[in-house]
Amino acid sequence: MTEQGLKDSPDRGETTFCGFRQVPAKEKSKLVGGHFTTVAARYDLMNTLLSFGLHHLWKRTAVRLLGLKPGDWVIDVCGGTADLALLAAQTVGVSGRVVLYDINRAMLEAGRPKVAASSLSETIIYLQGDAQRLSLADASLDAALVGFGIRNLTHPEAGLKEMHRVLKPGGKLMCLEFSTPKTPWFRRLYDLYSFTVIPLAGKIIAGSWGAYTYLPESIRKFALPEELSATLEGLGFSQVRYRRLTNGIAVVHLGVKS
Ligand SMILES: C[S@@+](CC[C@H](N)C(=O)[O-])C[C@H]1O[C@@H](n2cnc3c(N)ncnc32)[C@H](O)[C@@H]1O
Repeated sequence: MTEQGLKDSPDRGETTFCGFRQVPAKEKSKLVGGHFTTVAARYDLMNTLLSFGLHHLWKRTAVRLLGLKPGDWVIDVCGGTADLALLAAQTVGVSGRVVLYDINRAMLEAGRPKVAASSLSETIIYLQGDAQRLSLADASLDAALVGFGIRNLTHPEAGLKEMHRVLKPGGKLMCLEFSTPKTPWFRRLYDLYSFTVIPLAGKIIAGSWGAYTYLPESIRKFALPEELSATLEGLGFSQVRYRRLTNGIAVVHLGVKS
């Protein structure tokens, strides 16, 4: 198990990791929230620069693998600036809905011009709230997705459990998250890039060394793909599988609520 792992105990009420730093569990959301508020206006630009545009490909692949249908009701947990919500909305169409759910107002606002400029704004519903306590009814949705968000929660397993709760039986889960490359030489190169270029670019372009130090650190602390699969199965998801993207820089997990 990685040191942060996914379990919400025994960390609850004690300490957890925020990047490589051990902090009181109750402070992590404030720290993470501060990072996203600082970088919100430059978040999309940073994603595109730092991933050389690959994040668009990862998001398109992940949403395609989820296999949404027209008319589906979907939640995009930790949806931020709405990239995944917009992709989902393209498939579910006007007869479906995508709930864009995020705790951070600045991130939601930063994505608003993209949603407004699309023809899909009627399909997307904004909800500000904590992914660990979704304000939606049990068994109310056809699909739940989360992109690069679950790692940021103080209790990632609580977020996944909530996604399971709001899904209808047979509803589909997709979790897209960063991981570490499989090939050793590529991993070493990626490590070098992660701990030098990323924080420097974060400081220069987004004005935050801290947010872009937290990013690679939190990835290293997060559960490995096999561990995340086991957690999903333990929560009651079936047909759990994952696919590595770009040698494992990102991983998409899929599952179905039994
Ligand atoms: C790395 S961004 C991902 C945004 C978007 N899904 C994407 O793929 O570009 C992580 C998002 O998680 C949100 N977040 C962090 N903690 C949260 C929580 N407890 N509940 C809901 N959203 C949270 C942040 O505000 C941020 O928008």
